[in-house]
Amino acid sequence: MVSKQEILGQKIMKRIHIHNQDDGGIFTFTTGAMGSGKTSVLLSFIDYTLNHHGNEKIFISECYNTPIQSFKLHNKKRCFYFMDGIDFRLRDRNNGFKPFQGEHVEYFSGFQELYEMAKPGVANIVFFGNRLYWMDFIEYVNMFATDWNHFFLEEFSEICPAYQKGELGNHIADFADVLKDCRKNLINIHTNTQQASRIDYRPLLLIMVYIFLPGARERKHLRVAQRAIDNLKSDSNHGNQAYLEMSGEFGLTTFRDIYRPNPLYHVDCYCNNGERVPFIISSFHKSMNMEDKAPISVDFDLMKNG
Ligand SMILES: Nc1ncnc2c1ncn2[C@@H]1O[C@H](COP(=O)(O)OP(=O)(O)O)[C@@H](O)[C@H]1O
Ligand SMILES: [Mg+2]
Repeated sequence: MVSKQEILGQKIMKRIHIHNQDDGGIFTFTTGAMGSGKTSVLLSFIDYTLNHHGNEKIFISECYNTPIQSFKLHNKKRCFYFMDGIDFRLRDRNNGFKPFQGEHVEYFSGFQELYEMAKPGVANIVFFGNRLYWMDFIEYVNMFATDWNHFFLEEFSEICPAYQKGELGNHIADFADVLKDCRKNLINIHTNTQQASRIDYRPLLLIMVYIFLPGARERKHLRVAQRAIDNLKSDSNHGNQAYLEMSGEFGLTTFRDIYRPNPLYHVDCYCNNGERVPFIISSFHKSMNMEDKAPISVDFDLMKNG
């Protein structure tokens, strides 16, 4: 028998996956203990999008210096993009960190070029050399795209880190304003982190769907209680349970798609010290000509080396 909680869980999953112009885009956030399946939730959403929304663009932001998770996708459709001029290396962790050659990569020089190069129905895995740049790329897409777009952002705390002052703090505040528009501009954003407290509170406030996996910490202002989270069942063969909360309602689901590490691919991307440097790039706003919607040219040189 399907419980009331499972029916509510299915309803929230439908809101995540089914497109409806009136409802607009969705902003999800998955949290849970290490190894609870946070990445697998993102991968299952990517798989769904590849299979059901094959004419839409999917952008994936992976961490640096840790195995690239997209290699776990069954789907062979993927493409890597690197920003021109960044010093990066794909390294084979199964083979003493030797350069990994087994993957075709492409290069881009700006947001417009990247957006045009990215293929619909493909996992487009992008490295800017600094993860903060995702805020600006999403802003770009929010401004100019007319169709549905999908962003999958691993470890969101590296993109919107908590407790930042000065230019970066202001930039995150501006990005939170962008996030408010993403819904009506048909942008889906899926994020995760182990600890929500590492994420700036302004983007956190805009999350539409919370997904709690085993080991997650409750969020004080939400309905799902710690006691409930602590009772979630973990099953490494049949899938982990999770609570989903949206607009004050919550339901239960089980993530049955299990993405185990692909033994063939233990590849990571090393990059310039890249993303950990909280240095903010040329201000996107300054370089944007809003009047005639001219193509944007962002001065990537400014962000190099952090
Ligand atoms: N839905 C699931 N239910 C149970 N086990 C899972 C599930 N998804 C993944 N796993 C197992 O747990 C491991 C860690 O999953 P992962 O998604 O990388 O967790 P996290 O990102 O939270 O650290 C995987 O290698 C896999 O073997
Ligand atoms: Mg993970």
